[in-house]
Amino acid sequence: MRHCIYPGTFDPITYGHLDVLSRAAKLFDRVTVAVAESAGKAPLFTPAERLQMIAPNVANLPHVSVTTFSGLLVEFCMAQQADAIIRGLRALSDFEFEFNMALMNRHLEPELETLFVMPNEQFSYTSSTLVKQVAAYGGDVRHFVPPNVAEALTAAFRKGKLC
Ligand code: COA
Repeated sequence: MRHCIYPGTFDPITYGHLDVLSRAAKLFDRVTVAVAESAGKAPLFTPAERLQMIAPNVANLPHVSVTTFSGLLVEFCMAQQADAIIRGLRALSDFEFEFNMALMNRHLEPELETLFVMPNEQFSYTSSTLVKQVAAYGGDVRHFVPPNVAEALTAAFRKGKLC
């Protein structure tokens, strides 16, 4: 059983993230989407809300589960007995951050590999921040996020939340 962890803040999950996930699901027997608390990023949604938004979008993939975590990613991965971390590389600009993170995680846990997949190029400019900005000003984000996420964004900004 090969098990990988797909970590992220997912504030909120986008079709780009789901594209990475579908690729990981083809490669591994088990995939755990791990929603990081990421308090430092001041997320719009709580970890529980982010998990709730992801769950219906992975329901068609029986070997994919979603959970939240806090603390060090490598510790979570070891506790889950995972073989690898999977991350997406949208463009060259992602590389430096991802490279440093992969090397730091390898320093902390040499046995744990990080693998990268490239999402479809149509998602190369998608980011959670941009999606939130567009939604905050009433723009249509349905091209970038699943319907339940678009609804959650509309509801959040109707309540006056700031992104
Ligand atoms: N499609 C769309 N957007 C994507 C994407 C894809 N395929 N891949 C990345 N992104 C975007 C996200 O939308 C997000 O955009 P934003 O910054 O505008 O919000 C950004 O890239 C990164 O977000 P995400 O993929 O959600 O992950 P992250 O970089 O926030 O996650 C953690 C980082 C959680 C993996 C990392 O901070 C971590 O491991 N934290 C735990 C603590 C720890 O161990 N720290 C040491 C790490 S060395």
